Amino acid sequence: MAITQQQWIYAQRPQGTVGPSHYQLHTQPLDTSLAPGEVLIAARYFSVDPYMRIGQSAKATYDPQPHPLGVVQQGGVVAQVLASKASAFASGDWVHCYTGWQTHARVAAAELTLLDSTVAPVTTALGVLGMPGRTAWFGLTEAGRPHAGEVVVVSGAAGAVGSLVLQFAKRHGARVLGIAGGAAKCAWLRDTLGADWAIDYRDHADPDSMGAAIKALTGGVDVYFDNVGGMVTDAVLPLINRRARIVICGQISQYSGGLDTPPPGPRLLHHMLYQRATMQGILARDYVHRMDEMTRIVAPWVRAGEIVFEESIIDGFDQLPSALNALFTGEHRGKLLVKA
Ligand SMILES: NC(=O)c1ccc[n+]([C@@H]2O[C@H](COP(=O)([O-])OP(=O)(O)OC[C@H]3O[C@@H](n4cnc5c(N)ncnc54)[C@H](OP(=O)(O)O)[C@@H]3O)[C@@H](O)[C@H]2O)c1
Repeated sequence: MAITQQQWIYAQRPQGTVGPSHYQLHTQPLDTSLAPGEVLIAARYFSVDPYMRIGQSAKATYDPQPHPLGVVQQGGVVAQVLASKASAFASGDWVHCYTGWQTHARVAAAELTLLDSTVAPVTTALGVLGMPGRTAWFGLTEAGRPHAGEVVVVSGAAGAVGSLVLQFAKRHGARVLGIAGGAAKCAWLRDTLGADWAIDYRDHADPDSMGAAIKALTGGVDVYFDNVGGMVTDAVLPLINRRARIVICGQISQYSGGLDTPPPGPRLLHHMLYQRATMQGILARDYVHRMDEMTRIVAPWVRAGEIVFEESIIDGFDQLPSALNALFTGEHRGKLLVKA
């Protein structure tokens, strides 16, 4: 079978915003002869995630080394099997893998997870039943530990992780404030996801103004699930209640340059002292071995239509670098994917 493979090669470290100029498109014929145990896949959906921008920082992050230059952009993929020399996979099967931003690849069978498209749409393997779902579930239940009646504040609440945290917190009986950019997203948080309150952070020029709005709605914060950092966090921290739990999931407002040279900011940790609060960073990969546990709980909610898992799908492999940039301009709701 003759196949032309396309690959987005990560070519240059961005100083600020990432975009197409930091990638090169390579097009070449792919040798499709398979060794025993190998599978030939065609990527159908690509995950576009903020961690990709973290890995582009020149410094060590949760990975000891930054994403290397000159190789395919790493990332999660939902693909279909085109040919197989592994007994567990047959042509036409849907799989999840980490082959990154390339249209086709030869992969060892051990690196593939078989997907059952009758259980849930295959794209959910990159969203609610994949890494973002795992992050939201374990971040909230292990670090946030919300109780019924408590106030949970979620930043980045209209995104892949945040939209799930919001709904999981509601299922725990919490009262939930979602913070997101724009009136339309805030209406979606309230009307579709069931948030008790929503705040558009772009309506506020400084943390004091946003903090006053959060206090007026909630009275105080028991759990803060933070996806964005920066000014939003500066607004929330002075409002924490006694023994509040602060979950540091992401700091996307800092990724485009602020990781290497953090801007000076308010020093607010005295509120942690006053309120005997805890702050915990959480990482999805620490819970990979508990994926089945999360799936057992969340998949039935997905099948029953009790969880909203919106997917924003951009068409075209050529759009991948621009799509990564779009995470920072906030044009999508829910999980951002690119369709091959
Ligand atoms: N710890 C982990 O293991 C783990 C795993 C997955 C994700 N994360 C983190 O969780 C966060 C959300 O990830 P995701 O995949 O769910 O992405 P996402 O929320 O679907 O997309 C990113 C969103 O961030 C918001 N944003 C961008 N720049 C911002 C800024 N300067 N200030 C405030 N909001 C900003 C935008 O929404 P608005 O329109 O609302 O601005 C954008 O839609 C990220 O920080 C990511 O790094 C962590």
